[in-house]
Amino acid sequence: MNARKIIIDTDPGQDDAVAILLALASPEEIEVLGITAVAGNVPLSLTAKNARIVCELAGKTDVPVYAGCDAPLSRKLVTAEHVHGKTGLDGPDLPDPTMPLTHGHAVDFIIDTLREQDAGTVTLCPLGPLTNIATAFQKAPDIVSRVQEIVLMGGAYFEVGNITPTAEFNIYVDPEAADIVFKSGVDIVVMPLDVTHKALVTKTRNDAFRALGNQAGVAVAQMTDFFERFDKEKYGSEGAPLHDPCVTAYLIRPDLFQGRHVNVEIETASELTMGMTVADWWGVTNRTPNTTFIGSLDADGFFALLTERLARL
Ligand code: BDR
Ligand code: CA
Repeated sequence: MNARKIIIDTDPGQDDAVAILLALASPEEIEVLGITAVAGNVPLSLTAKNARIVCELAGKTDVPVYAGCDAPLSRKLVTAEHVHGKTGLDGPDLPDPTMPLTHGHAVDFIIDTLREQDAGTVTLCPLGPLTNIATAFQKAPDIVSRVQEIVLMGGAYFEVGNITPTAEFNIYVDPEAADIVFKSGVDIVVMPLDVTHKALVTKTRNDAFRALGNQAGVAVAQMTDFFERFDKEKYGSEGAPLHDPCVTAYLIRPDLFQGRHVNVEIETASELTMGMTVADWWGVTNRTPNTTFIGSLDADGFFALLTERLARL
């Protein structure tokens, strides 16, 4: 099987970092054409830096990293230092990157790549607010039909919200961008909180990362040590949810995940429910399904995969 070509669009973020490490450790299944940074968990200058820190941690300094949009399409940026810390990657003590950003804007890289590669061969993997992707679709509508699939982390149905009572962070930060993406007609697979809250790093699972003894395994354990304090205190959960790695794990082992093909629309008008992913999980409307909305995963299989792949770095 040929490796699947992907662009990772990201706002690292400890869980973004783990998602990227998993992809970079899996060249048989995944070819990372480039990483595009977007403002989200922390401002763009930090996400663009963190993406390169993660590439260096993986020993993959030849992956191009581009800086993208520094603010949502039409709103003020909301960040999440309360979850990820001041740097966005708090936890391990990692050196500043020496690899440079690649020249050019992330949005142009997305457009150029989709035009250069054969149609239907590039998958977009957004792990943060959808600003870069929506901007690319607006600037170059011809690329939309060339996308193979979008596999993204965002939204929630049963779990409802983590930044407001009804909205998940990535969608809430740029609901207008999410609206453009969900209405684009591209096949979308969504990893909402409903599934990512089942990818919990228990103590045993984090000990297994640490016991790998390599730089990546130890750094992931330290990131999780930091990242989990928020969820433990706030939700009383057993450990940190590895939201974004669900995206890259799905590309490698889709059989670990289950969901439904449903219609999802994004709330962009009501201040009360702004950024809500209105999923027709029970099929109560006749709206056309546009999304495979994932609801469950084999968590043990997921952590076994992650541990096995981190060991390779
Ligand atoms: C999402 O928001 C960010 O804080 C995480 O990196 C993840 O992408 C979870 O709601
Ligand atoms: Ca993220």
